[in-house]
Order: sequence, then C-alpha cells, then structure tokens
Amino acid sequence: MSGFFITLEGGEGGGKSTNLRFIRDYLRQAGKPVRMTREPGGTALGERIRELLLRPEQIAICPEAELLLMFAARAQHLNEVIEPALAAGEWVVCDRFTDASYAYQGGGRGIPERRIAQLEQWVQGDKRPDLVLLLDLPVAEGMARVGRRGPGDRFERERHDFFERVRASYLRRASQEPARYRVIDAARPLEQVQAQIRQVLDALLAAQEED
Ligand SMILES: Nc1ncnc2c1ncn2[C@@H]1O[C@H](COP(=O)(O)OP(=O)(O)O)[C@@H](O)[C@H]1O
Ligand SMILES: [Mg+2]
Repeated sequence: MSGFFITLEGGEGGGKSTNLRFIRDYLRQAGKPVRMTREPGGTALGERIRELLLRPEQIAICPEAELLLMFAARAQHLNEVIEPALAAGEWVVCDRFTDASYAYQGGGRGIPERRIAQLEQWVQGDKRPDLVLLLDLPVAEGMARVGRRGPGDRFERERHDFFERVRASYLRRASQEPARYRVIDAARPLEQVQAQIRQVLDALLAAQEED
C-alpha cells in the first residue's frame, strides 16, 4: 500500500495555502486519507528552520546556507512525516517542496542546478512528488495579492526580477516533465482556479479507480 504525493508550487500569492485546504477537503470527500503539510516546516525542527529562513530581521544567510537549511528541514520532513504517511497509504499534500529549491535558490539566487540535484538525490533518493500543481501567475499580480496581507517575509522582500527568475524556473521545470506537472492559471478568479484543480484531481482519482 502506498499513498500519493502531491505538491503545490508557485510564486508568492498564487493561492497555494488557499488551495491546499480546498484539495484536502476535495480528496477527503472522495474518501482518501489526507495529510496536509508544508515546507520549509512540517516538523518541530522544520518549523524552527522556517522561522530562521523567513523572518525578515537582519540575520545574514548566504545562498548556500539557505539551500542547505531547506534540505535539512526536508530531510527531517521526509523521515518524520512524508515517508511514513505515504507508507501508510495516505495522500500527502505539501505546500512547496524541492521544486521551490530549484526555483528560489537556483533560479532566484543563482545556485547551479546540479548542486541542487546532488542534494535532492542524497536527501530523497528516488522519491519525487507524484504530481506537482504549479499555480502560475504574473509576478505583479501575485505581489499585489500578498501586499494585502501585511509586511512581507524575507523572500517577499526580494526585487521584482528575482521573482521573474523564480517563475521562469518553475515554468521550465514544468515543461521539461509534463507528465508530473500541471500548470494552473492562478491569475483567474478563485472559482476558476479551483475548477482547474478539480479537473486534475478527478482525472487522477479516475485513473486510480482503474488500477
Ligand atoms: N484566484 C484568486 N483570485 C484572487 N485572490 C486570490 C486567489 N487565490 C488566492 N487569493 C488571495 O491571494 C492571497 C494569497 O493567497 P495564498 O493562498 O496565501 O497564496 P500563497 O500561499 O501561494 O502565497 C490571499 O489573500 C488569498 O485570499
Ligand atoms: Mg502560502
């Protein structure tokens, strides 16, 4: 028995947190046991690391340290939460995962992709999300949405071109592996975003019925 691993990705304000709950409820209604979690975080250690990484106060964190902290949190998360939940047949739905490391520390901060791939291989072995939902929208639109939620975290204070590189990096990864990624047009009104997500989930549930 093995569960199913779904991650939500995309820039700030794409609606990851909002739609995470929608997905959880939709899958539960379909009778699936769901574990909802997030990165960085999801464990006691991970949440402490999250605080270090997201708090906007002035503590210097170089790109390499940032990447390693993300993977330290991820190692704990896989060990303590994700792997056991999948082994127990649960559907794990995670707000951000390794694609975010490629997009932010790779695309955004300029760390070579092969470095990230090395850490991915070391920490995860062959474990990858079964499905990545990329909530894509223009940077300015996402920023306008998060602007309404108060002062930004350490990442949200980055410049516009940083987020353009993040977005481009996500879209490139999605286009390289279309079987495992679904790009959702997150600029649309919420009901339309959720209609797109529902379509993907319905197809997934139908395919699993056939197995
Ligand atoms: N499709 C949408 N249209 C308009 N506003 C949205 C939409 N999806 C989410 N929002 C709003 O945008 C803000 C950011 O959403 P959130 O789910 O926190 O995004 P993320 O977790 O990706 O940063 C919230 O105020 C949310 O209510
Ligand atoms: Mg969020």
